[in-house]
Amino acid sequence: MTTFWSLYVTVLTLGTIFALAWLLFATRRGQRSEATDETVGHSFDGIEEYDNPLPKWWFMLFVATFIFALGYLVLYPGLGNWKGLLPGYQEVSDGKPFANGQPGWTGVHQWEKEMAKADEKYGPIFAKFAAMPIEDVAKDPLALKMGGRLFASNCSVCHGSDAKGAYGFPNLTDQDWRWGGATADIETTIKGGRHAAMPAWGEVLGDQGVHDVAAFVTSKLDGRKLPEGVTDEQVANGGKIFATTCVACHGPEGKGTAAMGAPNLTHPAAFIYGSSFSQLQQTIRYGRQGQMPAQLERLGGDQVHLLAAYVYSLSQGDAQKSE
Ligand code: HEC
Ligand code: HEC
Repeated sequence: MTTFWSLYVTVLTLGTIFALAWLLFATRRGQRSEATDETVGHSFDGIEEYDNPLPKWWFMLFVATFIFALGYLVLYPGLGNWKGLLPGYQEVSDGKPFANGQPGWTGVHQWEKEMAKADEKYGPIFAKFAAMPIEDVAKDPLALKMGGRLFASNCSVCHGSDAKGAYGFPNLTDQDWRWGGATADIETTIKGGRHAAMPAWGEVLGDQGVHDVAAFVTSKLDGRKLPEGVTDEQVANGGKIFATTCVACHGPEGKGTAAMGAPNLTHPAAFIYGSSFSQLQQTIRYGRQGQMPAQLERLGGDQVHLLAAYVYSLSQGDAQKSE
């Protein structure tokens, strides 16, 4: 801030406080000191006002706010370039200066201090887990507890607090993996994020083609019953379309290709965009572009490693069930 603006802010802030203090004391001076049942003379919807002095405790409350405001402005940066006297805000820790090189309290500095403290405390623990293979980390109760916390604050907005997903967001507790469920796959997914690209087929196939291939997916791949009125011919035509258009990504049996994030189409329960006949046609007609945001830069490798172990552990109960 330039000196001019610094002065401007300071004068305006202190001026307002002193003006209010003056107002408080000036209006008090002219008032009677004992209670009365006289009114001030005006009436709002029949409500009148006694001409009594401000109660003492009320007056003192005002005085307290002035004292608080002045104390606050001495301790914290509120007046232009004034840095505040709050002790302990000269450096992050161990004589390390703040990222902007300046002492004094700011919200960012408080955050830097707390991060440094947390690093000191948890850094060695994260480092210990980072050096272990994910399968082993996934068996450590402390690691899972820490992973669960990280998940709650970084992942649950999309995947849900129980990690069971929602529309557009995959369930992470089952054995249906779009990008692979091996520990290394999961870690790669979290580190770099994933960008799925299911093309839109509406223009290529036309309405009938979309209808037929959706029928094929429903009856032949998923083994579910078709809606009334869909003929065997249409399903057969859908099969032909599938074999030419969809196999490249979803594979000849529709089991999916993890390298492309093309999901298994034989498990409708794991579809993230819905599995009803109309939802399938919607997906096929307009395509889908699911995006899992990359976490490495935000969280760092050690935390990603812990998260990968946590996510891996979630699906292990399901793996045992399905064995
Ligand atoms: C270029 C590769 C590619 C081709 C070709 C392709 N898909 Fe997909 N498909 C994907 C990907 C990737 C996804 C995942 C999209 C996402 O997660 O946002 C997907 C998702 C889907 C889904 C949604 C599953 C869910 O979880 O809700 C359906 C259904 C589907 N594809 C059917 C088809 C059909 C039918 C065809 C052929 C007409 C086809 N796909 C062709 C790559 C492809
Ligand atoms: C902004 C929403 C969002 C956030 C936040 C998010 N994800 Fe995801 N994640 C997605 C989407 C969408 C997909 C599916 C991408 C696709 O369509 O293939 C996904 C996919 C995944 C997958 C792959 C699932 C599979 O079937 O292969 C894993 C593992 C995963 N996320 C873990 C995490 C973890 C761990 C976090 C927290 C660090 C996280 N995600 C945070 C949206 C999110």
